[in-house]
Amino acid sequence: MYATLLALHSLTRWLILISLLFAIFRGYRGWLGNKPYSKFDNSVRHITATIAHVQLLIGLWLYFISPIVSYFLQHFKEAMHIRDLRFFGMEHITMMLTGIVLIAIGSSKAKRKLTDKDKFKTQAIWFTIGLLVILSSIPWAFSPLISRPWFRSF
Ligand code: HEM
Repeated sequence: MYATLLALHSLTRWLILISLLFAIFRGYRGWLGNKPYSKFDNSVRHITATIAHVQLLIGLWLYFISPIVSYFLQHFKEAMHIRDLRFFGMEHITMMLTGIVLIAIGSSKAKRKLTDKDKFKTQAIWFTIGLLVILSSIPWAFSPLISRPWFRSF
């Protein structure tokens, strides 16, 4: 179960990034180009926020079964000084929760805005900040500190 969830969590990262980038692109395009906020835009906003929530659920599940996190929680004092353990036990969850909350707030604010321009603007700004927070806490394969593979096989 652990290996499957880890592979799924790793894969869903790409879905989040692609959907966020597309929603942000639609946001700036609509905002700066004075486009009408179409049903398609509304679906893009909704699907992006949903994918983020799915990743949150998978991440939470993973958090409770991960041997790395369980070691971190059981040896909190010493583990705080070990980069990998601190990252997955504390930093990753905090940053990702923040990113996903920003996306959720942005999505619900955009939905409630009265004009199309405000909808696009709200979506563009909140999603961009959410994306930056998420990007900063992904254990990228190229990272010299915490590195995880680009893809994991199931
Ligand atoms: C946008 C949100 C998120 C993204 C893009 C993301 C991405 C990733 C990636 C790429 C990994 C490495 C997977 C691998 O080893 O192949 C990972 C690991 C992990 N993530 Fe996330 N994550 C997100 C949110 C969360 C959240 C909200 C939680 C907890 C509530 C979480 C908990 C974990 C844990 C516990 C691991 C490491 C498990 C282990 O190696 O034992 N993630 N995440």
